[in-house]
Amino acid sequence: MRSYIRKISYLVAATIVFAGLAGVLAICSAEESQTEKPNENSKCYVCHPDMKIEELTTDHLDMDVTCDECHGPSTEHMHDEMLMTKPDLLFGRSEVDRMCSNPTCHKPGDGREVYGRQDHKDPVAVEEFFEKWTGRMRPNGRAVNHNSVCTDCHGTHNISKPIDTRSGEQPQWVAAFNGSDLAGWKTSDSSNWKVQTGRVVGTAGTNDKGSSLWTEAIYENYLLAITFRATWPVHAGIWLRGAESKSGPRIEIFDSAPTFTGSILIPGKGLTLTNIREDLVDRESWNTISARVEGDKVQVWLNGEEIGSVRGIAPAKGKIGLYIEKHPASKSGRFIVREVQIQKLADAEEK
Ligand code: HEC
Ligand code: HEC
Ligand code: HEC
Repeated sequence: MRSYIRKISYLVAATIVFAGLAGVLAICSAEESQTEKPNENSKCYVCHPDMKIEELTTDHLDMDVTCDECHGPSTEHMHDEMLMTKPDLLFGRSEVDRMCSNPTCHKPGDGREVYGRQDHKDPVAVEEFFEKWTGRMRPNGRAVNHNSVCTDCHGTHNISKPIDTRSGEQPQWVAAFNGSDLAGWKTSDSSNWKVQTGRVVGTAGTNDKGSSLWTEAIYENYLLAITFRATWPVHAGIWLRGAESKSGPRIEIFDSAPTFTGSILIPGKGLTLTNIREDLVDRESWNTISARVEGDKVQVWLNGEEIGSVRGIAPAKGKIGLYIEKHPASKSGRFIVREVQIQKLADAEEK
């Protein structure tokens, strides 16, 4: 049924794309006129909550470019209970570059048709980024290569996770961080944890003990995906099953040669899993740490690469926590978190 819906929709989408490109031209120039303040994106967030903190969306929203400007008002899409009507404007992968390279949006240089790597304000930085990521998977699930389009390198602007439909059948990813405040979270050091421009920002305190920001909810078996960046050097981490007395395992975010981000620390036992690949973390940009926590086992990935797994973790359930501690070499270390997505797994015995 669903694939049938998709097929129909793609046909519709294909016809719409032509109208779309023309529409975007109009849209980008309309932007200049500023006759009315563009409305914000909340009507779309109802069903696309991930987009609240998605980079491409928030970067454009900062410049008053809303969903409508790129996808059209999409009134029917929003009100179609059967979820069969697509948004007004859609872009297949092959349309993305051209749509973004509209001269009133991102104007290419030297008569080129597409805004290229060389047209960027800092082409050297883009080249370095390109070298670093070529052939590897970005946190948005796209690989970078010579044919990469804007959205391969920018943002996580795609439906990579099940979105909040009302079917209730599929397991759901739930955003533990709402993108605007710390509702659902608790800390005893509130001066160390702030929300700034839609991100949780952790700063190391002045005391020697680290500081944690905990979920109020308790989790047992789950998948976790956290998108973060840091100002290095930093010593941060992610608690997986935190409890008052025993703090459970922690995924480390640090640079402690020969071990690096993605290693697992078990308080009292030390590092029980070590990541020795320094290049897996992107120090300049966003990274995604994912974990599967089930029974007494935890398995960890960093930017799509599996680091490994450990068994024998305890306790059996606990809170998820963000952690940062003072770094001897830096007073200004920050741990910046954009997304905390959790998908509960069924109890082990139910399977
Ligand atoms: C009532 C819920 C709902 C609202 C409100 C909503 N959407 Fe959607 N949207 C969906 C669903 C469901 C899908 C299909 C997801 C899938 O294919 O997995 C979707 C898919 C999309 C897609 C991708 C379509 C494709 O086939 O690639 C775009 C783009 C989109 N929505 C944009 C918007 C925009 C822009 C708004 C606000 C103007 C909006 N949506 C508001 C439910 C909604
Ligand atoms: C190979 C990866 C890659 C591709 C493809 C790419 N970008 Fe970028 N872009 C980057 C990086 C990396 C930066 C940040 C550079 C820096 O540190 O200043 C950036 C920065 C930007 C900026 C902000 C600074 C500036 O140069 O104006 C804009 C706007 C931008 N990109 C637009 C686009 C558009 C539009 C496209 C598609 C036509 C695109 N990018 C394609 C990697 C890419
Ligand atoms: C600057 C223009 C722009 C803005 C603003 C924008 N989008 Fe998009 N959107 C795109 C483009 C381009 C694509 C195609 C991306 C790709 O596949 O690489 C897309 C794709 C999507 C998809 C489908 C991705 C998929 O996996 O099929 C969804 C859903 C979506 N947008 C929703 C939204 C919502 C909701 C908003 C506002 C909260 C929004 N977009 C704001 C340009 C935009």
